[in-house]
Amino acid sequence: MIAVGCDHGGYALKQEILKHLKKRGIEYKDFGCDSEEAVDYPVYARKVTGAILSGECESGILICGTGIGISIAANKVKGIRAALCTDCFTAEATRLHNDANILALGGRVVGPGLALKIVDTFLDTPFSQDERHKRRISLIEEE
Ligand code: RB5
Repeated sequence: MIAVGCDHGGYALKQEILKHLKKRGIEYKDFGCDSEEAVDYPVYARKVTGAILSGECESGILICGTGIGISIAANKVKGIRAALCTDCFTAEATRLHNDANILALGGRVVGPGLALKIVDTFLDTPFSQDERHKRRISLIEEE
């Protein structure tokens, strides 16, 4: 189950992503927001991170205007590794190297075509399981 959340700056892209997940038969839970009316992105970051930490969802997608605010908010939560990606190379690398559990996107930065490719790359790339990457991730978690 993928947790998906956004603020008003990410709402339009979130709708495209939900349609795409549905088409691919990927189960998701939409944590809002539900329109382009202005809201506060940390609220949605908290909902999605909470769903991951509770085990309800295995990973998440968060979208705001730039992807920056919502990823900063998500990364304050211990156990969360949110990666802001603007291309498929970083989306693949952050799964292989960082075992990122949240993909952050900027709805005002990437167009829907590229964003959906980034989503597919992120969701379809498993963690490498390499010892060196495991060690680095556990060093992050120690802090
Ligand atoms: C909202 O205007 C905008 O600040 C927000 O979507 C995001 O880009 C923050 O980092």
